[in-house]
Amino acid sequence: MKLSQRVSQVKPSATLAINSKARLLRSQGVRVISFGVGEPDFDTPHHIGQMAVQAVLRGQTRYTPVQGIPELKEAVIRTIEADYGLRYEPDEVLVSCGGKHCLYNLFQAVLDPGDEVVIPSPYWVSYPDMVRLAGAEPVFVPCAEARGFKMTPEDLRRALTPRTRMLILNSPSNPTGTHYRPEELRALADVLLEHNEVLIVSDDIYYRILFDNLPWADLVMVEPRLKDRTFIVNGVSKTYAMTGWRIGYLVGHRDVIKAAGKIQSQSTSNPSSVAQWAAVAALRGEQETCRRMVQVFAERRAYVMDRLARLPGVTCPVPDGAFYVFPNMSAYYGVQVGGRTIDGSAALADFLMEEVHLAVVPGEAFGQDRCIRLSFALSMEELREGFDRLEKALQRLGG
Ligand SMILES: Cc1ncc(COP(=O)(O)O)c(C=O)c1O
Repeated sequence: MKLSQRVSQVKPSATLAINSKARLLRSQGVRVISFGVGEPDFDTPHHIGQMAVQAVLRGQTRYTPVQGIPELKEAVIRTIEADYGLRYEPDEVLVSCGGKHCLYNLFQAVLDPGDEVVIPSPYWVSYPDMVRLAGAEPVFVPCAEARGFKMTPEDLRRALTPRTRMLILNSPSNPTGTHYRPEELRALADVLLEHNEVLIVSDDIYYRILFDNLPWADLVMVEPRLKDRTFIVNGVSKTYAMTGWRIGYLVGHRDVIKAAGKIQSQSTSNPSSVAQWAAVAALRGEQETCRRMVQVFAERRAYVMDRLARLPGVTCPVPDGAFYVFPNMSAYYGVQVGGRTIDGSAALADFLMEEVHLAVVPGEAFGQDRCIRLSFALSMEELREGFDRLEKALQRLGG
């Protein structure tokens, strides 16, 4: 079957592929431990589910305005005001089917063929493909592990060209957990102030999952003069353990919001009405349950860092937020085992799956082949078992 040129440029999501491999083995009765998960392992808090049930019973089950129900937009505006100290109007908010859909709509609305989009690397797997789907070109900025995988102002300056249309910043980051400090954001903002034509995407989807009492900060908070060209992407998926409900929001200049809404109107229309009401309860309701989830993630991070420190040859910056670590496994590359060579992160991931039934995501999917991504959105028992298996597998590779 002939397919479009557009789709042939796109790779399927590597993280989803790993999880389906794990599911397949499990269906064959194999006990797989998956460090590949990209979602909290908690249930959606009860009061949020109750709101959804009420929405169904009240008959709030029809089409809604494409850009989202006013109550949810208002809840988003209040959340942003409280957490970012910035005030937006309802026509500066678009509610979509997850943060991913927000990014997709935004890229479709502002990118043209020939445009360049600066993406610090390691990056979240979906950015490059979504940028390419919009006809634009990703420009990767390699960020060194020794600097906590953060982009410096010099890195940014070097990457900018007359064709640069957009910068994507994701902090805390998937896959590294890196979070930029206010002074680091200040230095990046100074470079961006010299380039008025560059739009900024602040993917803040992990903003509430921060450890060590680190304060929340993003570019536009540090430099409000960037507000007109900054687009905040956020949502309820990670903060409220609501990945399956598919609600995200995009906040920024009304002209672009209107254009992104137009794309949405000709594709999905509104996100699920019931999920929107659930998101209202999430944003308006008690936040204690989320704080407890973050506390649990912090305890797991401590355990994971301790286990990683005991693996010979493995290095890993301590994540500030999110629920991933991104250890450097390159000490094991080049090793031959069972007639094959571990020649990179994909080969290592295959080896771990086959040898000890441990699913990890190869770092090459995030632009850094020396690393693998391990999620700690797993119970302590699974983490313990997973690290025991990892240790065993690495011993076979001489570690
Ligand atoms: C960095 C980043 N941005 C955005 C998303 C999208 O999340 P959702 O579409 O569930 O809101 C994810 C999900 O994994 C992510 O890791």
